[in-house]
Amino acid sequence: MRSFLGKDILSLKDFERPDFFRIFEAAAELEPIARERRNTDLLATKTLVTAFYQPSTRTRLAHEAAMHRLGGHVTGFSDAKMTRAGDWYQESIKDTVKMLEYYGDVIVMRHFQQGAPAEAAKWASVPVINAGDGWGEHPTQVLTDLYTVQNEMGTIDGLNFLCIGDMRMRTMHSLSYALTQFDAKVFYVSPPEMSLTDDFKKELDAKNLQYEEADHVADVIDQADVIYMEPVVQPDYTKARQEASDDKSLTPANYQVTRELLAEKGRTDSIILHSLPRMDELPPDVDGTRHARYWEEAFNGVVMRMALLALVLGAME
Ligand code: CP
Repeated sequence: MRSFLGKDILSLKDFERPDFFRIFEAAAELEPIARERRNTDLLATKTLVTAFYQPSTRTRLAHEAAMHRLGGHVTGFSDAKMTRAGDWYQESIKDTVKMLEYYGDVIVMRHFQQGAPAEAAKWASVPVINAGDGWGEHPTQVLTDLYTVQNEMGTIDGLNFLCIGDMRMRTMHSLSYALTQFDAKVFYVSPPEMSLTDDFKKELDAKNLQYEEADHVADVIDQADVIYMEPVVQPDYTKARQEASDDKSLTPANYQVTRELLAEKGRTDSIILHSLPRMDELPPDVDGTRHARYWEEAFNGVVMRMALLALVLGAME
């Protein structure tokens, strides 16, 4: 098992099975602090720098909340337009990161360009955590999600995952890489223009992931233990920001999970995860069913970031 001390968290592609369990163990150890809404002094001498080149509610604030729970300090930017990276100068990742590394002990970066956090990690002398890069990956979200599955189902092995949404989405990439390390099967349901790319399928094949593709949620929901959702109506993740148009489309039934569908065809003990924000693929009346686990997932988002920060900054081994 690897040590996470001083390490970047950029991708789940090269995570091995014991790595997941070590992180889950650290998260479980720290969870009572967040559950009891306490702050500790575990990272009192450390500072987190947030560098967000794309909007975020959960990922940035969960990292910041995690740092506060551990007694650490936070600085950074949530709108690159107000920095030299987002104004006339368009300052490079290298030059920006060569500054940020002096302002704190770990950098959490979200960027619209796939690979930007990896580029930052090349130049930074402190760990870099990928908070979502273009259509690339979103490792801290998926660690949160799998920790939620482990807690709610008692296992990840032996489960069928139903992934619904846009398969270009960074969570879908990180989740698929992660599941290659478990005895899990995946059903993917997406619009044809948002389906798994041939190159990505080759990668999954090379890692022996068991998966099938289907056209309609209703055809496979009866086999799903974990229903993992993302919108199909969403912005372009390769842009720094995209404003909504007045004619936002509606989600076709193929990619929606409704209370009625769960009652008619879903497994009685299936759970739904959604990293949020959501559109109409997951109607609010599902929130009141026993299947909904996305609020627990959101709570775990803080716990998981506490674990990752504690591990990379050496407060836990
Ligand atoms: N789940 C997620 O990444 O949400 P934000 O875009 O709000 O960070």
